[in-house]
Amino acid sequence: MADLQPVKGTRDFYPQDMRLRNWLFDIWRRTAHRFGFEEYDACVLESEELYVRKAGDEITGQLYNFEDKGGRRIALRPEMTPSLARMILQRQKALNFPLKWFSIPQCFRYERMTRGRKREHYQWNMDIVGQAAQSAEVEIISALLSALQAMGLGSEHVVLHLNDRRLLNAVLDHLGVPQPAHLPVMVVMDKRDKVSPAQLGELLAEQGLAPVQVAGLNRILGMATLDALQGELGALPVLDDLRRLLELLERVGFGAYVAFDIAIVRGLSYYTGTVFEVRDRGAALRAICGGGRYDSLLSAYGGESIPAIGFGFGDVVILELLSDLGLLPTLRSDVDYAVIPFSGQQAEPAMELGQRLRQLGFSANADFSGRKLKRALQHADEIGARHALLLMPEEWARGEVVLRDMRSHTEARVAVDAFFEGLRSRPGQGA
Ligand code: HAM
Repeated sequence: MADLQPVKGTRDFYPQDMRLRNWLFDIWRRTAHRFGFEEYDACVLESEELYVRKAGDEITGQLYNFEDKGGRRIALRPEMTPSLARMILQRQKALNFPLKWFSIPQCFRYERMTRGRKREHYQWNMDIVGQAAQSAEVEIISALLSALQAMGLGSEHVVLHLNDRRLLNAVLDHLGVPQPAHLPVMVVMDKRDKVSPAQLGELLAEQGLAPVQVAGLNRILGMATLDALQGELGALPVLDDLRRLLELLERVGFGAYVAFDIAIVRGLSYYTGTVFEVRDRGAALRAICGGGRYDSLLSAYGGESIPAIGFGFGDVVILELLSDLGLLPTLRSDVDYAVIPFSGQQAEPAMELGQRLRQLGFSANADFSGRKLKRALQHADEIGARHALLLMPEEWARGEVVLRDMRSHTEARVAVDAFFEGLRSRPGQGA
């Protein structure tokens, strides 16, 4: 027998899984629309070179890549941001900035699998491109937190950790780490939660840090407030920017969700300014989502430098968290009418009735399984039918159907014409 398992690290979505996935995507889409973002998409196949970066990003080592029949190096996208950058560069002259775009791509990463990390995931992306002002930060973070609220998550459940790469650059300057080493050092720093302190020290030493610098870095990363950092580093514009951003987020009502955290680095080397990630308050799970400002990604691909900020929000960790908290909705499929012929003799009229209902704008599931009436009604209940339209031999011969209310279990015999007349006159219904 063939191996029936999906490829390691990938998921099948049975109808009940799809209901949940659609529920989540629906919240993402509605939130994006509420903030005035437009949807875009690209193919899951991209040129491998789009993901090759000098700083040694983990993502480059996790590519699903291959050579196509034409000898091109191809990768399944591990993230959407490079595709977004590519699409923008292609039409740079024609586009009207700032752009507010969103997408829900499926992404592939050959990851070591842990709880919350798979080899395939869907990732809601929201990005504002062409707006340097902090209002872009506020909008992006507000949209992200609004989606979490729509899922029933309060500030007692989740927290957005906020930092700025420019502050990390200032810390590394302060410790005497040369500029070219900053990015690779940050990529290593991002592994802080994943490796032991001793391993982290070794990785930092590989990047040229002396033991005294590693100790200094650990000490500074333990500082909890902007004031403490100011005491260490002196006054810096980035400290004022962070204070101002925290104030603005407070002002739009999200203060309780947000906390400054000097230890947030993010693993992708293209971030240049604000960086953030959302974690569950108990920090039991991996990051729910993450993002930041990446003002030089477009120029890295050879275009003009355009300021940009955004986030990626995966479907895996959030569903685990909602499940842990008992916040997953109970979702049923639903259909307006289950049309049930008593036997094969009523099958053709059942087809016709189903189609008439659909033309009036109702959903109708016609049951041609030939199962017994009791089982057919059970099935109608399972698919969430609100009404069943039964085509019984005697009634049908008289031009009548039996209309059953599936919730109250009451039945009425109605002439077919009167039934359709009644539907047409129902306000707000019909095609
Ligand atoms: P990222 O931090 O690599 O950022 O991923 C963002 C989110 O995608 C994670 O927080 C997590 O929710 C989800 N995710 C990533 N990898 C996996 C995985 N293997 N399994 C399950 N979920 C995963 C980016 O990808 C950036 N491109 C986001 C961005 C958009 N920055 C600016 N704009």
